[in-house]
Amino acid sequence: MTGGAKTDDDKKVALVTGASRGIGMGIATALAGAGYYVVGTATSTEGAASISTALGANGEGVVLRSDVADDVTDLFAHCKQGCGLPLVVVNNAGVTQDNLLLRMSEQEWQSVLQTNLGLLFSVSKAALKGMMKARWGRIINLSSVVASMGSPGQANYAASKAGIEGFTRSLALEVASRNITVNSVAPGFIETDMTAALTEEQTQQALSRVPLARMGSTQDISAAVSYLASEDAGYITGTTLHVNGGMYLG
Ligand SMILES: NC(=O)c1ccc[n+]([C@@H]2O[C@H](COP(=O)([O-])OP(=O)(O)OC[C@H]3O[C@@H](n4cnc5c(N)ncnc54)[C@H](OP(=O)(O)O)[C@@H]3O)[C@@H](O)[C@H]2O)c1
Repeated sequence: MTGGAKTDDDKKVALVTGASRGIGMGIATALAGAGYYVVGTATSTEGAASISTALGANGEGVVLRSDVADDVTDLFAHCKQGCGLPLVVVNNAGVTQDNLLLRMSEQEWQSVLQTNLGLLFSVSKAALKGMMKARWGRIINLSSVVASMGSPGQANYAASKAGIEGFTRSLALEVASRNITVNSVAPGFIETDMTAALTEEQTQQALSRVPLARMGSTQDISAAVSYLASEDAGYITGTTLHVNGGMYLG
């Protein structure tokens, strides 16, 4: 990694994992529009470069992979030297590897937990130091409607997302006294590469369960995340905000 760009003194830094496409790219763009300097992550140098291009002077892309132990340390050292430590962290990077449990391999189980929960642990832990010092912070974690509803063929993914919601509640209680809020956003059925992998039949079946009768957009999610990152949401912590078109009502 090279040195990050210097930002205006009063510009807060936001870190968005998995910002190369889909929901993460939507969130990174929205936070840049809201005045943050955004550090977005991708798993490849090409992905990182495309984030830098998309964000221009308002941010940059860096490489972060859940299976490379030093990546989180390097990322925070890079921020510290350059733009500053992030006071808003959006743990968005996530993967699916679907299979019925009877056929699910150890690798399919472990890799989903490592990316969806392992990265959340190491990024959140690394981010807390700067937030505690600033006595202000926002951690926003991307869960999923399947954490509440379950989903056949997704025991690994649903376990990781339900884990994220429990993590959110526990960490919220740990850091509330430092004026740091921790919340989850649970999207329903959103139009991205993740859902593009579904067959037409699976898509129609999922849509039939959405009362608002449409797939969600990345903007539907970035609006919720931007709100939780804002000063206006300062009294909301430990909660899960469902953004699912009525698919799950709690
Ligand atoms: N789409 C939906 O309907 C939906 C519904 C509920 C919840 N969600 C959640 O929302 C989040 C974003 O979903 P999405 O649909 O936008 O996903 P996506 O389009 O598949 O993008 C996934 C992002 O995660 C990054 N990533 C993948 N593997 C990684 C790894 N091992 N280490 C670090 N980063 C990794 C990817 O980077 P590269 O581009 O470099 O691969 C990419 O930026 C996920 O947490 C997902 O579970 C999505």
